[in-house]
Amino acid sequence: APELTILDDGDAVTSEAARMIAAVIADTPGAVLGLATGRTPLAVYARLREDAAAGKLSFEGVRSFNLDEYLGLPPEHPASYHSYMRREFFDHVDLRAGDWHLPDGMADDPAAAGGRYEVAIRQAGGIDLQLLGIGENGHIGFNEPGAPFDSRTRKVALAASTIAANASEFPDGQTPPSHALTMGIATILEARRIVLLATGSKKAKALDAMLSGTIDPAVPASALRLHPAVTILCDKEAASCL
Ligand code: GLP
Repeated sequence: APELTILDDGDAVTSEAARMIAAVIADTPGAVLGLATGRTPLAVYARLREDAAAGKLSFEGVRSFNLDEYLGLPPEHPASYHSYMRREFFDHVDLRAGDWHLPDGMADDPAAAGGRYEVAIRQAGGIDLQLLGIGENGHIGFNEPGAPFDSRTRKVALAASTIAANASEFPDGQTPPSHALTMGIATILEARRIVLLATGSKKAKALDAMLSGTIDPAVPASALRLHPAVTILCDKEAASCL
């Protein structure tokens, strides 16, 4: 069963997540990180940046693979996850260009791009620590309700509620793309260790469905109960339905 750590607030979640990431980097030469976007991990990237600037942490030799990217957004679009990751993290730390990866949102052939992404993860030796958020509907990455547990990196359609939840990340008048490339549930479950972050009352129902309901594709995050090394770091508000 996932290890559940309920902390006082978002700051405590950030500190613990940053500590776990630093520990994997210290323990694993050439550590491979699985990274997530969204609002929840923003403070974690800020903390990692600060620690790197203070000389407490180096990302030299670390490799990273992000969970997902919107389809049809060029990397330089301000709402792409490429832009997010460069702005929040990559451009501020000593992770080498070429050592960080996201799915190719501009791929002509998304199926082929998904296959190549799987190969690249495998060639890097697999993911040592995968950071995850959780959608209000229980999604992980962009694996929306119904995503098969044996899914791999592929093109997916976004749920209307996900498009609405992420619309504020887009410039005025622009709506998020309808599709994305995302690691699959099986891809995520292959990570050696998984850390899921959930903060705020909006995530309370999803966390309860993930942990208390049946293990079923209707709640993609419930698949994590099949993994032997999952830590959930949440605040009291996100834990309020448990
Ligand atoms: C987004 C991302 C997920 C993220 C989730 C929650 O759509 N694709 O990777 O974990 O939704 O986002 P937030 O942290 O902003 O609530």
